[in-house]
Amino acid sequence: MASQRPLPPHAATAMPVGQMAELLPDGLVVVGGDQVIRFVNGEALRILARTREDLVGRPVREALPLADKTGRDWWEHTEPWDGLATRTGHREKLLVGPGRRDLLVTARYVRSARNRGVERVLLGLRDAAARQRAERDNATVLATVAHELRAPLTSVTGFTNSLLRRWDRFTDDQKRLMIETIQSDATRLSRLIGELLDISRLDADRLTLRLGPVDLEDLLRRHVVRHELSRRGQITLRLGDRARAAGVPELWADADRLEQVLFNLIENASLHGGGDITVTLDRDGPEPAGVLVHVDDTGDGVRPEDRERVFDRFWHGTDTTTTGLGLYVVRGFVEAHGGTVTVGDSDAGGARFTVRLPANMPAYVPDRT
Ligand SMILES: Nc1ncnc2c1ncn2[C@@H]1O[C@H](COP(=O)(O)OP(=O)(O)OP(=O)(O)O)[C@@H](O)[C@H]1O
Ligand SMILES: [Mg+2]
Repeated sequence: MASQRPLPPHAATAMPVGQMAELLPDGLVVVGGDQVIRFVNGEALRILARTREDLVGRPVREALPLADKTGRDWWEHTEPWDGLATRTGHREKLLVGPGRRDLLVTARYVRSARNRGVERVLLGLRDAAARQRAERDNATVLATVAHELRAPLTSVTGFTNSLLRRWDRFTDDQKRLMIETIQSDATRLSRLIGELLDISRLDADRLTLRLGPVDLEDLLRRHVVRHELSRRGQITLRLGDRARAAGVPELWADADRLEQVLFNLIENASLHGGGDITVTLDRDGPEPAGVLVHVDDTGDGVRPEDRERVFDRFWHGTDTTTTGLGLYVVRGFVEAHGGTVTVGDSDAGGARFTVRLPANMPAYVPDRT
């Protein structure tokens, strides 16, 4: 008996097709063999800025005019219903839709059997403006990256050229100065390349954390010693009340990435903030507690209108000597640990950057929609 045959695997979870179409990230338009629009999903309505009544039940050539970049009518030109019976559709094409909207259109011709007439034309629609904007953004990023890489390289090639050609004419002090500049620019270059690699991993949601037990207090104490040895100013490490009473909880985290987070924040505090730096470490939230880190400085602080922007990549305010990648990396790494980072006012007068890291790090689920 037919009813006793096992159901095909998809039937048990079958969802009405219309409902499924609403879940598609792309616009979908279905046109019948009579060239009348049968179905439009919500995304297509959004992209076309039309209502369902504008489209469904109407001849497609009228309701959805499409032209190529030269102004040629796409329906006339492609003739989906009349062309060769072997045609199956169209690859993505940039077309101009109603209201002069740029659309990326794909088409699939559906026949009930080979060499039969086209019964359905399925159109996939994408908003081309978003893609064009993303391409422009990528071009800007590439230009900025090229510029940032070239600046330190200029001094490396310039000074090595001078030293090689006129070695005997420079005093020892001059040579030392040049070599020191080359060394610091080469260090800057290699750091920049490291940051760019991290950023491309963050942007592609490909950051993998190497997790292990992390003692942030120990990590910070080592950092403070290094900072003081390099004589870059005064830095104090404090424990908050809860941490003094019950200790700083150990985290299950990526030690290298958290070290980078603290390094970037402390470097910013000494470079952009100036003055004395205080790092406060405390327990955070209900037990099992996470960790809270404040990095305070006594500089001019960050203006309220810039407090979100500082975390954007390549945003560096009016400072033309830095790149503007540090805080983007900080936010990416902290969020990968399920934490948050914010900036506000410090009681000491300058900026206060606050990092919160949860005790139980959730599995890393990238969410960059
Ligand atoms: N502690 C601070 N006090 C005042 N302004 C700050 C502070 N930290 C960051 N900023 C501002 O935010 C900008 C972005 O900081 P970010 O660390 O992302 O980049 P950067 O320091 O300019 O360059 P990079 O870190 O890539 O070398 C800085 O250029 C600065 O204008
Ligand atoms: Mg920085």
